[in-house]
Amino acid sequence: MSEVPPMTGDDTPTEAVPLEPVTPAPTPTEAAGPQMSIDVVSIFPEYLAGLQLSLIGKAVERGQLSLGVHDLRDFTFDRHNTVDDSPYGGGAGMVMKAEPWALALEHILGELGSTIEGESPNGVRTDDAVVGSKPTLIVPSPAGKVFDQRIAEDLADRDHLVFACGRYEGIDQRVIDWAAEHFELLPMSIGDYVLNGGEVASMVMIEAISRLIPGVIGNPESLAEESHEDGLLEYPIYTKPANWRGREVPEILLSGNHAAIARWRRDRRLERTAEVRPDLLERLDDLNKDDLVALERFESERSTVTE
Ligand code: ADE
Repeated sequence: MSEVPPMTGDDTPTEAVPLEPVTPAPTPTEAAGPQMSIDVVSIFPEYLAGLQLSLIGKAVERGQLSLGVHDLRDFTFDRHNTVDDSPYGGGAGMVMKAEPWALALEHILGELGSTIEGESPNGVRTDDAVVGSKPTLIVPSPAGKVFDQRIAEDLADRDHLVFACGRYEGIDQRVIDWAAEHFELLPMSIGDYVLNGGEVASMVMIEAISRLIPGVIGNPESLAEESHEDGLLEYPIYTKPANWRGREVPEILLSGNHAAIARWRRDRRLERTAEVRPDLLERLDDLNKDDLVALERFESERSTVTE
């Protein structure tokens, strides 16, 4: 547990490391403030550096998105910056201690600008105005609800998301229960497998959510027919040359017949979804007559092939 830089000797938690290496000239967006603030707490803040790249990094540069990464060890006060201990009741592995998490989360709440009495030195807001707009605390965990595009869309409307990246066997349940009083608490899994910690899962969710914030992606039309946008997988795509190593682009795409191309693409989406993710099709209730005819055709073609 020595991967992070040692404490400076100053007991005051350091400011979040802003992932914003370049600050270009102020834009109207900047003047209006970020559309969303995201804070991430981790013992491996370096993991999150990838978020500086590409469209998310540009959104941070433009001031559309504010991204702060906090080192959990900055909220420990012992010589070894201890964040974990053995589990009560026995068992393998280590458990993340409650207090550093509480201090880190209180620090983030405190950065929002107000304190209350009787809670802690950093203070936690409980006034009505704030309760109505509690920040959302996402705790990545294989025991969470499975993250999907609907949840990404829902979270893209929030003002403030906080990601608590656990490691080891997880975080002491008491601080999770405490946090539920001050945040909208969302334990989230990114799939039915186990990662070593919440950092990669947080990056997955941050990317999926922040690309849906208006203006983050240059061409919003590119969001329209993506996989999962409307419950179907996306259609296959092609670019030049029209003949690549003897393989032709489907002729219809060269026809200029927009209606026929749209139908062909819709059919490919239905076909691909039926083949790869039939579970998604079962959830759809807005298939039209043409869709149902196409699905029946694929089904009978498939049963002919397998006979
Ligand atoms: N941490 C460990 N495994 C995870 C998963 N599948 N999803 C989210 N966080 C995790």
